Parts: sequence; structure tokens; C-alpha cells
Amino acid sequence: MTQDPGHPGRTILTGAMPVDMDECTRQEHSTAGHSAGKDPMGDGAMDAAVLLRSRWDELEGFESDQDRGIPAPPAQPVPPADAKIIGLPPADPDHAGPALGRMLSDRRSRRSYSAGDLSIGELSFLLWAAQGLLKPLPNQAGFRTSPSGGARHPLDTYVVVSRISGIEPGLYVYLPNGHSLWLKAAHPGKEKLLEACNGQAFAASAPVLVIWAAVPARCSWRYGPAAPKLVLLDAGHACENLYLACEHLGLGTCAIGAYLQDESDRMLGLDGRDETTVYMAPVGRRRG
Ligand SMILES: Cc1cc2nc3c(=O)[nH]c(=O)nc-3n(C[C@H](O)[C@H](O)[C@H](O)COP(=O)(O)O)c2cc1C
Repeated sequence: MTQDPGHPGRTILTGAMPVDMDECTRQEHSTAGHSAGKDPMGDGAMDAAVLLRSRWDELEGFESDQDRGIPAPPAQPVPPADAKIIGLPPADPDHAGPALGRMLSDRRSRRSYSAGDLSIGELSFLLWAAQGLLKPLPNQAGFRTSPSGGARHPLDTYVVVSRISGIEPGLYVYLPNGHSLWLKAAHPGKEKLLEACNGQAFAASAPVLVIWAAVPARCSWRYGPAAPKLVLLDAGHACENLYLACEHLGLGTCAIGAYLQDESDRMLGLDGRDETTVYMAPVGRRRG
């Protein structure tokens, strides 16, 4: 890892991942001849096995930004003073739905949605289920409905609202602290959405598209090279919570990993380094 010259004491995360080229090379040699060890992109893209390594042994002697006394990055997006903020109705955790066992046995990735709108109450419940704040902590993200390594909560939740009754279409950011939506930009339009979703039309045309973007520094501030893996594990938890919340409400969702990185980051207004898209999930009313 190198220090960011623009921000003394701050770690550079190339493409949001710390790159250790020596380690990439070691991995490639040690698995020579096996397809799993080959660089699939052929252009220096990181070997999957390197990315998935649990790197806690490398933290021995590692001095994190937290150890250096550098303030933690903001725990959630900070809207400008004149931002348009839409308060969401409280999510009702007692909302009657099927039992957990039934939700697990019925859970499926659902890609076919009816033309109907979703309600603001449904959206409120879905966002709360995925990333809702349960217990605020001073200067920290607090405890949320989904777990996060060290409660660092490196994910921001972007919400492309296309058809939610009571909310104008647009690109919103969910603010767990305050349980509200910040209208960040106008609706990106069908074409940009479809590009970002890599042509997956069912996702682009859903009433709502939830997009998780990672702010790696929230996690690397404490965990340095261990951060990338933790970020991705967190994304899995958030999305599974969304799946179960959709089952609970009788809605449909489908995880989207095959999105286009630059197109999505551009659509969200992210630089792809300090913050970058990691996962998506459209939600709609099940057809039939
Ligand atoms: C990490 C991840 C990425 C996925 N990406 C996509 C995707 O881009 N497009 C899609 O249609 N389904 C995607 N899926 C859904 C899987 O295809 C689906 O989970 C799988 O077929 C099993 O079906 P089930 O979820 O109904 O059990 C993804 C699932 C996961 C967990």
C-alpha cells in the first residue's frame, strides 16, 4: 500500500482495491498451468484468489489510519445544506408476513415484474431491512439491520426511483441516520440505466433499482489491506436482507453482479476510487 500524496496518512486504494503486484505475481506462478491461476483479463487484472485472501496476518505491525489518529471518513453521505431530503415513513418491523422458514424456502431471484408502482411504505421497509439504523453511535455508522465488519458500514445505498407512488423519479441516496432519501440527481434515463445494468433490461426497467457503492476508506481506515474482502462480504449481507424483505412483502428482486463498472459509477456520480459500485438489486411487483 502507498500513501496518498494529496491526503497524508491516507491509503491509496487503486480501483478501490489495494494492489500488491508482487503477491499477484506469486499467485500466478504458484498456480501456473491451472485455469484458476490465470489472469482472465490478460492485462494485469487481479487474480480472484488474491482478492479473496483473508489478510489478517498482514496486519501484524500495520499502523492503520485509525491508529494514527486520523479522523474516520463520514459514516454516511453528507448532503449539502440545500439538499432535497425526503423523510420516509417509519418501517414497521411487525408488518405481518410469512415465517422465516417459509421466506427461506420460497426465496428466489425474480426477474419478471408487473407494471405496477411500489409504495413509499414498501420502499421504506426495503431500505430499512437492507441498511436501516438500529442503534446510533457517536461519530460512527452505528449498528444496522445488516452486519458489517467492525460496524464500519462501508456501503452507501443509491436508489434509482422509476415508479414509486409518492416519490418523484430520480437518483436518491438513502441516509440510514434519519431514515430519509436525499435527491442527488434527476432520473438518469432509461438508456444510461440499461448501460449501467449491462443490458439487463429487467433490472433497468424495474420500479426501483437499489445500487450499493462502497466507500473503501471507511473500512480501510481501521483494517487496511483486510478491507476489500470485508466490503464485499458486507454487500452480500445487505443484498440477502433485501431478498428476505422482498419475500416478506411479496415483492421480487434479483442480485446483479454483472453490471458495468464505469457506466454505473458515472451514472451515480462516483469517481470509482473513493467510492465505487459493488452490487445492484432491482425490486418490483412479481408478475402473476
Ligand atoms: C453475486 C451475485 C451476482 C449475481 N448477478 C446476477 C446478474 O448480474 N444477473 C442476473 O440475472 N442474476 C444474477 N444473480 C442471480 C443468480 O443468477 C441467482 O442467485 C442464481 O441463479 C440462483 O438462483 P436463486 O437466487 O433463485 O436461488 C447474481 C447472484 C449473486 C449472488
